[in-house]
Amino acid sequence: MLYSEKVMDHFRNPRNVGEIENADGVGEVGNAKCGDIMKMYLKIEDGVIVDVKFETFGCGSAIATSSMATELIKGKPVDEALKLTNQAVVEALDGLPAHKIHCSVLAEEAVRAAIKDYYDKNGIAYEPEQFCGGDCSCCHEHDHHA
Ligand code: FES
Repeated sequence: MLYSEKVMDHFRNPRNVGEIENADGVGEVGNAKCGDIMKMYLKIEDGVIVDVKFETFGCGSAIATSSMATELIKGKPVDEALKLTNQAVVEALDGLPAHKIHCSVLAEEAVRAAIKDYYDKNGIAYEPEQFCGGDCSCCHEHDHHA
């Protein structure tokens, strides 16, 4: 089987789909190659993610990984959610085919972008490296050199 049962389950019945009005953090990321887009909304109280929802115009794997990612960060402190890696999401889904791993990166980036938005809006200090460890699209290099 190409996809695990968990992937199929989250693809068919994605959790936490939708939008949060007055979200405390919103992150939108896209994959330039496939053109897929993911938007993540966070409701945060006392540093804890009390609600999370996502919308995606993406492939089945993007839907499944975002769904799993929302489940993994719901109820967690923000700084813990920040440590969520796409590998952890893939593991929680019992794996993804190699050519679909990039879809899980989209989910990780969306979570990070939403947390960054929350930090920015609330004037919470952070290390830029927390968001730009890889080639993520949540941080724009040119902003620093303007
Ligand atoms: Fe683009 Fe999966 S093919 S996110």
